[in-house]
Amino acid sequence: MNNIHAIILAAGKGTRMNSSKPKVLQTLSDNTLLGHVLVQAKAISQKVHVVYGFGGDQVQQTINDDSINWVEQVEQLGTGHAVAQAMPHIEDDSISLVLYGDVPLIQPQTLGQLINAAEDSGIALLSVILNNPTGYGRIVRHNNIIQAIVEQKDANAEQLEICEANTGIMAVNTQLLKKYLAALNSDNAQGELYLTDIIESAVNDKKIVESIITTDEFEVAGVNDKVQLAELERVFQKNQAVSFMQQGLTLKDPARFDCRGTLNFDQDCEIDINVVIEGDVSLGNNTTIAANCNIKNTKIGNNVVIFPNSVIEDALIGNGASIGPFARIRPEANIGENAKIGNFVEVKKSTIGKGSKVSHLSYVGDTTIGSEVNIGAGVITCNYDGVNKHQTTIEDGAFVGSDTQLIAPVTIGKNATIGAGSTITKDVPDNQLSLSRSKQTTLKNWQRPTKK
Ligand code: UD1
Ligand code: CA
Repeated sequence: MNNIHAIILAAGKGTRMNSSKPKVLQTLSDNTLLGHVLVQAKAISQKVHVVYGFGGDQVQQTINDDSINWVEQVEQLGTGHAVAQAMPHIEDDSISLVLYGDVPLIQPQTLGQLINAAEDSGIALLSVILNNPTGYGRIVRHNNIIQAIVEQKDANAEQLEICEANTGIMAVNTQLLKKYLAALNSDNAQGELYLTDIIESAVNDKKIVESIITTDEFEVAGVNDKVQLAELERVFQKNQAVSFMQQGLTLKDPARFDCRGTLNFDQDCEIDINVVIEGDVSLGNNTTIAANCNIKNTKIGNNVVIFPNSVIEDALIGNGASIGPFARIRPEANIGENAKIGNFVEVKKSTIGKGSKVSHLSYVGDTTIGSEVNIGAGVITCNYDGVNKHQTTIEDGAFVGSDTQLIAPVTIGKNATIGAGSTITKDVPDNQLSLSRSKQTTLKNWQRPTKK
């Protein structure tokens, strides 16, 4: 395939979104609607032209792609007028592929077939068979040969019975397209320049209009409101989940799994319900993620268990580690091999060494913990003095008693033991017990107050 120009129509306002953002900037999975179309368009064409109108600055800024030729359509005078705006930028000896910024799930195989058909015949359209084609242009055939597309508002009773609908997506030899666009008029029910009228011109020009017919209505579905946006999000997620399962991932319920990004996994990984994956996430062998976890931009090793309700972002989780339930692993956390992070523990910008345990209710921030360290319940690294962050170091084999505050900067030596309830403000030597605790006293004659 050579010299393909994709023209993406994106001038519509999208009033029904009730949003400050132009319709094509609404998000599906981790990309804008237009972004999804751009991925397909760029994969199959040499040049992409986007016809914009409402909110053009916002669209261009958000998409931020210098390879795109942005073409303004000042007034929305119809789909034919929109395509015509791009024509001065496209040489005759090419194929123009018309796409829509609000039709995000179009598949590359379908576009490939459509372009092949257009290379043979000069003009090819993509149609879809619908149970209820109301609102769509209908494909009028005679002896199975396409004669015209008739818009809903221009159709007679017989034509309204036709179930083959125009998706709007087509591929046309650019020289022909220019000729047919120049002949358009707005003599129709909507007073617009219909792109669809080029079909009749081609037929009059003795061309055979080829068609690719899809039965996947979602592949060609446009998004006009938040209800349709959610519908296509589900379709996207389901298709992705099916592909993951085919590659060997166990999903307890594909209808309750969302991946808004890239997920890589080795063998025998299992994901329970209501897990949301974002950004770039990878799982080693035999790793399981329990229900209600949110994991973003994280590399997780082999044989890891993530217990329910854990939130992990920008982290590394080593082989054999266990996380949660209810753990929060924040950016730049590096959890070592066989380490354990238990319930209600928050770890930020810290390294936890091999086999170390932080099992309950702790905050570990800006800290380096060696191997085989035990952090008792409720230990807090006091890393922030209100202005600056300070570092805590806990060396191999140390034992930090429960409810200890470590006032950073501070270092706890190798195999040191810290008594529970201590407030540690000075470095602690290796191998010894250190504690800071007021002596326990008992007041012998003390009595509880009584009610007056
Ligand atoms: C169009 C087709 C119809 C097809 C349907 C599929 C025409 C005349 N009709 O109808 O056969 O079944 O799509 O959804 O083409 N746009 C512009 N500039 C304009 C007009 C439209 O950029 O001046 C863009 C819109 O933003 C939208 C797309 O083109 O993304 C389709 O326009 P719309 O007016 O919705 O066409 P339909 O009436 O749905
Ligand atoms: Ca439409």
